[in-house]
Amino acid sequence: MSVTTMPLDQFVNDLKQMLTEASTAFDGAQTTDDLDAARIEFLGAKKGRLKAIQKSLGSIDKADKPAAGKELNATKNAINAAFESAKERLAGGASGPSNDPNFDPTLPGQRPLIGNLHPITQTINELKDIMGRLGFTHAEGPEIEDDYHNFKALNIPTSHPARDPLDNFYLHTAQAQADSIGKELHNDNPLLLRSQTSTVQIRVMETTKPPVRIFSLGRVYRPDTPDWSHYPMFHQMEGLMVDENVTLADLKTVLKLFAQSYLGGDVPIRIRPSFFPFTEPSVEADYFWDGKWVEFGGAGIVDPNVLSAVGYDPEAVTGFAFGLGVERLCMIRHQITDIRYLFTNDVRFLRQF
Ligand code: DAH
Repeated sequence: MSVTTMPLDQFVNDLKQMLTEASTAFDGAQTTDDLDAARIEFLGAKKGRLKAIQKSLGSIDKADKPAAGKELNATKNAINAAFESAKERLAGGASGPSNDPNFDPTLPGQRPLIGNLHPITQTINELKDIMGRLGFTHAEGPEIEDDYHNFKALNIPTSHPARDPLDNFYLHTAQAQADSIGKELHNDNPLLLRSQTSTVQIRVMETTKPPVRIFSLGRVYRPDTPDWSHYPMFHQMEGLMVDENVTLADLKTVLKLFAQSYLGGDVPIRIRPSFFPFTEPSVEADYFWDGKWVEFGGAGIVDPNVLSAVGYDPEAVTGFAFGLGVERLCMIRHQITDIRYLFTNDVRFLRQF
């Protein structure tokens, strides 16, 4: 039986011919789709042209087989190399527009999303700036406070309704621990989330001798049912000035300068008599904005009991204090109608500031 054998020359020529065609096809590919089609044509595992030539290896004369196998491997490597370099060329070209016929340089680009500061943070930054310019130094205090700093030292008596457990977030951790080991807790100074930033007045005066001129800005907590003007967490700004001969006139001047700096222009302010345990006399301050009087916060002359509690001599120094709601200031300025918008973190709202 005679078997048709393929001469080695022809086998090698076929390989060369195919390598030339494959290189031309890979080099000419303009898109990854083009390149992929060429890859399938030449390197396809089942019907690729390299595979077809490889099959004809069987009909090569036995003596020529080693040489043919070597040629086949060399061609295979050359084709693979041509394919890889074309692939790299297209991948590199993808970042530049010129190679992609679908690239339209006249289309608008995609704008990266850039975040912005929360309106409350913006308000806080601005208030810090204004108070700094008025000569007040920033002071901080803990959000987890004790009864002494939140109430007692501020002259708020044990029976005062402000201490009601239903109006405060008392922390029961210490009690729970005592209960679990069957011990009685003699704790007359329970912990709570501070309900006012007036606590910082005490913390500062405990560690600083007069004169004092500080402000504090931070979160306070009260278990209020949320509505348009209430939220269980909000921010207050507290101001305190203690020195010789500080009077109500100084307080009014600072509040007026503050309102003018924050709201701009000559904003009228007024003070009305009020009551707070830690000030005597106490006032409520309002400013005139948008055709009406808007409540701004509480203030007054620091009660001598408070000065005594921190070791100051009420005969030698006097002081004023005030406390304002930060959300209210932010809402007035930006015409925000519901405090809950500030804390639901809807970017459609937040992006507007
Ligand atoms: N701490 C008061 C409150 O939470 C606000 C306040 C009133 C602060 C009078 C003061 C003040 O410093 O003098 O409602």
